[in-house]
Amino acid sequence: MTKRVAILISGGGSNMVALAETMVGDHPARPVLVLSNDPEAGGLKKAQGLGIATVAVDHKPFGKDRASFETALSDALAAANPDIICLAGFMRILTPAFTAQWEGRMLNIHPSLLPKYKGLHTHARAIEAGDADHGCNVHEVTAALDDGPILGQARLPIRAGDTPDSLAARLLPLEHRLYPAVLRRFAAGSRERIDLQSEA
Ligand code: GRF
Repeated sequence: MTKRVAILISGGGSNMVALAETMVGDHPARPVLVLSNDPEAGGLKKAQGLGIATVAVDHKPFGKDRASFETALSDALAAANPDIICLAGFMRILTPAFTAQWEGRMLNIHPSLLPKYKGLHTHARAIEAGDADHGCNVHEVTAALDDGPILGQARLPIRAGDTPDSLAARLLPLEHRLYPAVLRRFAAGSRERIDLQSEA
């Protein structure tokens, strides 16, 4: 049975495009929805260009009321009836009540070598710490932020003179390789870990 995938974004959606463009042919899943918490997110237009249904659930009118925002989120998701949710640059922190509903069926990509640098500004923190390596992880989403079981990791060296922007730019193509590779396995029922290394 082909798995139905909803992709949640907040911004440009380059990971969303990488996921959607690989869900073809004998891939065990298909994208059924791209949802953004920001109606202005550039990724929504890209998804429409790929022929994927889109919806925006603006979090701003809900202010600090996360539960009501998540009720609206759940209603929008229910209409698409996904089997799997992929968080791809989705910048809203989800409550334990929401993550519990999707436990074992929701993935996220995080731009650091977890468990290092959970949260924001991961590129700057790795450079400031003088790390030799940096990377990204795809993990299952649980109640704790950026903490769930790791399904994939991609690693690259930090170069002298790297800035957070230059490091982010070199990491993004690796993210676009890792996330689709993990989703293909996960949608086929495998949680076998994938490790990628780049010298670029
Ligand atoms: C990516 O670096 C991702 O790891 C992080 O947010 C960024 C989103 O980029 N969570 P995009 O919207 O997929 O281009």
